[in-house]
Amino acid sequence: MMIIYLLVALSVPLAAPFNAGSAAGSSQCHRMLKLLHGGAQVTVHMPPNVAGRWVSTSCEVRPGPEFLTRSYQFYHNHSFSALQFYYQDNHCTKPAYSLLVQGGVHLRQTSWVVRGGTEAEYQLHSVLLVCHSASAARNLAGRLGRGCGPAGAPEPGVSYELWSGDQGRGCTRALDFTMQELLLLRVEGRHRHGDPGSHTKELFLGDVHTERAQRRLHRPASYQPPLQSAKSHDAACAACRIISQSDLLHPPVLLSSADLPVRAQGHWVSQRCEVRPGVLFLTRHFVFHDDNYTWEGHYRHYADPVCRHPTFSIHAKGHYRQGPPSSRVMGGTDFVFTVTHMKVTPMDLATTSLLNVFSGDECGTEGSWRMGVEQDVTPTSGCAALGIRLPHTEHELFRTESDVSGRRMLFNGQRPTNGSSPDQAHKRATSYQPPLLHCSPGSQGALNAGREGDQHYRLGNGFAERNFADMLHLLIGGFITLTLF
Ligand SMILES: *[C@@H]1O[C@H](CO)[C@@H](O)[C@H](O)[C@H]1NC(C)=O
Ligand SMILES: *[C@@H]1O[C@H](CO)[C@@H](O)[C@H](O)[C@H]1NC(C)=O
Ligand SMILES: *[C@@H]1O[C@H](CO)[C@@H](O)[C@H](O)[C@H]1NC(C)=O
Repeated sequence: MMIIYLLVALSVPLAAPFNAGSAAGSSQCHRMLKLLHGGAQVTVHMPPNVAGRWVSTSCEVRPGPEFLTRSYQFYHNHSFSALQFYYQDNHCTKPAYSLLVQGGVHLRQTSWVVRGGTEAEYQLHSVLLVCHSASAARNLAGRLGRGCGPAGAPEPGVSYELWSGDQGRGCTRALDFTMQELLLLRVEGRHRHGDPGSHTKELFLGDVHTERAQRRLHRPASYQPPLQSAKSHDAACAACRIISQSDLLHPPVLLSSADLPVRAQGHWVSQRCEVRPGVLFLTRHFVFHDDNYTWEGHYRHYADPVCRHPTFSIHAKGHYRQGPPSSRVMGGTDFVFTVTHMKVTPMDLATTSLLNVFSGDECGTEGSWRMGVEQDVTPTSGCAALGIRLPHTEHELFRTESDVSGRRMLFNGQRPTNGSSPDQAHKRATSYQPPLLHCSPGSQGALNAGREGDQHYRLGNGFAERNFADMLHLLIGGFITLTLF
């Protein structure tokens, strides 16, 4: 077994007060981002050991929207038993129906589509359905239609076989049910900040297509929010505890809470090195000013899944408008963003060469790009090479929430899986990306600073840095269309 250890910077309390200098504009934010760069505090196991029970850490939102929690068990003999609990509300307090999915899963090779991921194959053996209320049963009866499930509405509390490999009965299509998420896996070990003794394990499974009709054939190119190991979950995670104790007939009922009004004001940073479909890894840092409705975004792109090798960074600015509560996604709020100014910095040789290939007035001054030197691309209306034309408008979905430690989180809309930009209102997302964490400019904050310690970095073969040809292929091939968020 090959194990990749990415053991970097242990988090230690910073003894001296942070030196407020010119960079103090976002010192806590920068410290939080610095912890992400280079995979601080993260251990990646290749191949992943998925045996055990894994549970959602909160009420999840899938495109549609669908509100659900998951509790998946993987056995050493390659069989799995996955519970999916669906709800009527965005806090997962009103169970509608649940599925028990049983089958087998076999790990295959390291993924070339998503570096750091492992591909797998799965077979379904059976899918059981249980409804939890009369209204959910009526609703499901309508969706399942004739010939599927029981004659008439399913009875609450009774399990029905929706799918069975033995009898060739397949009634899961009506629910847009799929387990394609099992085609891509990744397991990470993580030390909680400020507490090197604590350790949680997270299982990342493949993403769900944003178009429901495409779900069943979708090959994942990024991940859903991770599940946490039920054995080593964060003690503060009440949802984890509730979900790990439930079963098909006793769905988890999470603690109800009020929807917080979205207040985007302030600084927000990524919580981890994020994965975008099309082999993009990045960290994000946003600033929203709600007194004059302007915003800035700082995006750093990387070639590797622990955000160690930067490829380019973008600094975008513009204005925004906060709309009404979403009519489609309970708990969400509509926003509209426009970007009017943009600067680009190539940070590796491949990207620098690539930008220099583009001629004319498509991306900054022709042939003038230098590694590490920022250029304003506003005068050329953006950067054709990176798929950005200015001004550019996007329709967004936002939500704010507090995490288990009471830190404020900001969720924004999932990008359409087909790579298009949500530039019209009907393309607005119905699910979310991984949340950003609030950070205070210039304050000490709750996070301890990371101290760069000795870095151990052992990687297997085939993990070479992205070269020019790779990069060109990605950009020309249209795999990269940058979007605002
Ligand atoms: C795999 O192991 C689990 C738990 O030990 C058991 O319930 C299941 O029947 C086994 N599956 C197969 C295919 O042997
Ligand atoms: C908006 O307000 C922020 C802070 O209040 C300020 O830094 C920024 O320059 C303002 N932007 C514009 C375009 O007025
Ligand atoms: C891509 O997805 C968006 C939103 O999901 C949809 O409106 C659009 O028609 C799709 N475009 C293509 C080319 O499939």
